[in-house]
Amino acid sequence: MIDWMKPATVLVTCPPGIPPHLAREVEGLGLPVTRQMDLGVSSEGTLTDCMRLCLHVRTGHRVLYELAQFKATDGEWLYRNTRKVAWEDILPLDGYFSVSSSLNTSAVDNSMFASLKVKDGVVDRIRNELGSRPDCGKESKGAAVFLHWERDRATLYLDCAGEPLARRGYRVSPHTAPMQETLSAAVVMASGYASGTFVNPMCGSGTLAIEAALIALDRAPGTLRKNFAFQHLKGYDPQVWQELLEEETLAHRDHPGGRIIATDIDPKAIEAAIRNAELAGVAEFIEFGVCDFRETEIPEEPGVVLLNPEYGKRLGNLNELEDIYSGIGDFFKQSCKGYTGGVFTGNLDLAKRVGLRTKKRIPFFNAQIECRLLTYELYAGTRKGA
Ligand SMILES: C[S@@+](CC[C@H](N)C(=O)[O-])C[C@H]1O[C@@H](n2cnc3c(N)ncnc32)[C@H](O)[C@@H]1O
Repeated sequence: MIDWMKPATVLVTCPPGIPPHLAREVEGLGLPVTRQMDLGVSSEGTLTDCMRLCLHVRTGHRVLYELAQFKATDGEWLYRNTRKVAWEDILPLDGYFSVSSSLNTSAVDNSMFASLKVKDGVVDRIRNELGSRPDCGKESKGAAVFLHWERDRATLYLDCAGEPLARRGYRVSPHTAPMQETLSAAVVMASGYASGTFVNPMCGSGTLAIEAALIALDRAPGTLRKNFAFQHLKGYDPQVWQELLEEETLAHRDHPGGRIIATDIDPKAIEAAIRNAELAGVAEFIEFGVCDFRETEIPEEPGVVLLNPEYGKRLGNLNELEDIYSGIGDFFKQSCKGYTGGVFTGNLDLAKRVGLRTKKRIPFFNAQIECRLLTYELYAGTRKGA
């Protein structure tokens, strides 16, 4: 059986722009960051560490535990080297597994072919050793094998999460242009928010406010998921998972330390956001309201006010958006003194309409669109009570 305490290279993947935030999370969990790449960070850890990463990491997508690395110049090499791995010690005969691949090689034409070669290598090895083989297919309901093939180097990993960690399971009601959960968590963290007051006008399906609540309450996003691929590996100990969950529960805060307010002009967005927050278990900590962003209540106790307006590339009419962005600048100046303001946008020309000096301009990607989180220090001035 595979040794769950054997250290190996662990790769945590994420979208572009997010590695610095992910690196801080991985280090915060007591694991070393040995390299920061464009699409993830590499670390060193055991399969048990991978369970912790799956439970706690907010900004990562996959947690990959390295099994083997070898030279492969064509599909046959890939198949033969895949067969050398002791899969009979890793995958239960009565289980199910899937294979996915990411390729940057001219050795083969497509990732489906590469995945098929790996699958053949796995099942042929197990059948040869044990006379029978586990079931496999495309669904992410069992164990997951991941191939990364870079030029003539192939690396086989166990994908410990299976379904990417971004799919927390709470967003059944996406409204227009929702931000991905991992990106939302990274943006909230980059705004400097850890707990206290968080105001999110234009909240759409509520992702930023929900992620802010999870952060402020110290609730690990993995608790929202029922199934992880590591639970389908040989030697998985449900007792260890239970202990990790109990340790996680002990760390919960019972209050976000301030008010979390989420509003949108569209009542349907708020309906969706409430449903999502209920599923995420944080609805009782978020005050929802239907209103124009300028009418959003701003609590006396300052914190972070973060907006993700439409930015023209996917939604919205540019002329109207110019007014919205200059309106955000006025709203910040008039109503949000003492706060850290944040605008997440993919349109820097529109962002200029905010008309305030930015404190930070933090790069991100939303799908393929290059975006920025622009932060503003909204000095207290004469704000009453500030
Ligand atoms: C890009 S979406 C926000 C998506 C959100 N971050 C999410 O993850 O679902 C922009 C939102 O702004 C809202 N909106 C547009 N104009 C508004 C206004 N004047 N006041 C308040 N909300 C507005 C839209 O209804 C939409 O839900």
